[in-house]
Amino acid sequence: MLWIKAFHIIFMVTGFAGLFYLPRLFVYHADARDTLSLERFATMERRLFAIMSIGAIGTIMFGLWLLIGWWLPMPVWLHAKLALVALLILYHLYCYRLMRSFRSGDNLHGARFYRWFNEIPGLLLIAIVILAVMKPV
Ligand code: HEM
Repeated sequence: MLWIKAFHIIFMVTGFAGLFYLPRLFVYHADARDTLSLERFATMERRLFAIMSIGAIGTIMFGLWLLIGWWLPMPVWLHAKLALVALLILYHLYCYRLMRSFRSGDNLHGARFYRWFNEIPGLLLIAIVILAVMKPV
């Protein structure tokens, strides 16, 4: 089971590399005006989103595998963790929508919005890892 947990964490780190950097690209993309920069950011975002999604899918697959050992009764820390993971998945999907809005030239937000948006994954990471490692409740 420790191999499963190891891969769970490896994929989690891969996913978070994208979750930390993609919104940062959105900050620069929101300020870009010239065609060359707009196309370059769109390409970088598309490739990063693919890596980020591989990380997310691997984290969930190995997480569900680990869940076998904790299924019934599911402890409170795991309920709380999975609720935060659900928020993380929504954040991931919203990044996809934002990426599409940039590509179609319909981005509605400025760099300041994306700077705040970029803080969310860090807060979720801290809360989820503390719950997973400390199992406080
Ligand atoms: C659907 C998604 C997920 C499921 C079902 C899941 C489930 C689990 C389970 C059952 C364990 C084993 C706990 C143990 O045996 O100690 C675990 C460990 C862990 N999970 Fe997840 N997890 C998910 C997503 C995540 C995410 C998104 C993160 C990071 C942000 C994360 C971080 C960790 C860490 C750090 C451990 C190791 C805890 C330890 O060894 O003490 N997990 N996860």
